[in-house]
Amino acid sequence: MDKKIVDKICSSQNIEYDELESLLECSDDEMDYLAEKAREVSRSVFGNRIYLRGLIEISSHCKNDCYYCGLRRSNHRAERYRLTPEEILDCCETGYGLGFRTFVLQGGEDGYYSDDVMVFIISEIKRRYPQCAVTLSLGERSEESYKKMFDAGADRYLLRHETANEAHYKKMHPENMSLENRKRCLFALRSIGYQTGCGIMVGSPYQNVECIYEDICFMKELKPHMIGIGPFVKQSDTPFGSFENGSVRMTLLLLSVLRLIFPKVLLPATTALGTMDPLGREKGILAGANVLMPNLSPVSVRKKYALYDNKICTGEEAAECSVCLERRVERIGYVIDHGRGDSPVS
Ligand code: 5AD
Ligand code: FES
Repeated sequence: MDKKIVDKICSSQNIEYDELESLLECSDDEMDYLAEKAREVSRSVFGNRIYLRGLIEISSHCKNDCYYCGLRRSNHRAERYRLTPEEILDCCETGYGLGFRTFVLQGGEDGYYSDDVMVFIISEIKRRYPQCAVTLSLGERSEESYKKMFDAGADRYLLRHETANEAHYKKMHPENMSLENRKRCLFALRSIGYQTGCGIMVGSPYQNVECIYEDICFMKELKPHMIGIGPFVKQSDTPFGSFENGSVRMTLLLLSVLRLIFPKVLLPATTALGTMDPLGREKGILAGANVLMPNLSPVSVRKKYALYDNKICTGEEAAECSVCLERRVERIGYVIDHGRGDSPVS
């Protein structure tokens, strides 16, 4: 009976390979039980509060060539843009007015954003909004670069590891990228003092139970403050454009499992989840997620940040997303917390 497995994961904050395997095949009833437990755990740590992060997609240029991502450099159909420091600061101003107290600067690996440029942007955001957190999501950089940006005031860094399985990593990335370097970046970020986030795409091509088990083992080793997971969504202009999308069900199941194993971790209900199911983000929260990352990018560039097909909210103004999410969250019995939403873990 899988309910016993759920209780065991809950009390041991651990999962065995066989348990994961059988959970991934659980019935709807068992899945409801799992989500209920995950919700209880989330409520015991965060109450019914959901944290907001304003996502600013600063650049669609990328020097990498990941097989799943629409921003890959070989995608000649991608529309490229980059926001100037002034445009980024304007987004922060709008966001601040809407009540956001965390800004996430995310982009492809774009050489334009040198350490000096980033240090300027980060210091300026912190000067104008000292009570706000700055999160970066700019891919792999040198340890020295991470250090400079941290010293300029950056608080958090998101870098999904994508998969902790060596063979799987190779199948999703070209030769010149390595899991080893990815992990090195993540451990460096953590030791510098960033609240650090890792994560995966659920149902990415060639992913199997073993990969997911290794992901969980890696997470236990890294002890991240945040874990970002969302379904893989195909992007037609990439080598993975003909693969099946990841499933909403499996994403929800893993959100719950992660909540049980990492009670205090910050767990977003992602835009990819909302893209695969109109109520995906609500379902994510009801499966144990406690963070939402609405889009604060200028509407003029939103469609160009096409990581995957059919991304939602690309026509919405920041204010519309903000109101929309507040309503959505309240409809399921939660409230938006307008604080910085720091990790409860040191
Ligand atoms: N589907 C879902 N998520 C994707 N990402 C990139 N491409 C896709 C896709 N096709 C995710 C990656 C990356 C994050 C910024 O977006 O996990 O780390
Ligand atoms: Fe963007 Fe609902 S969150 S419209």
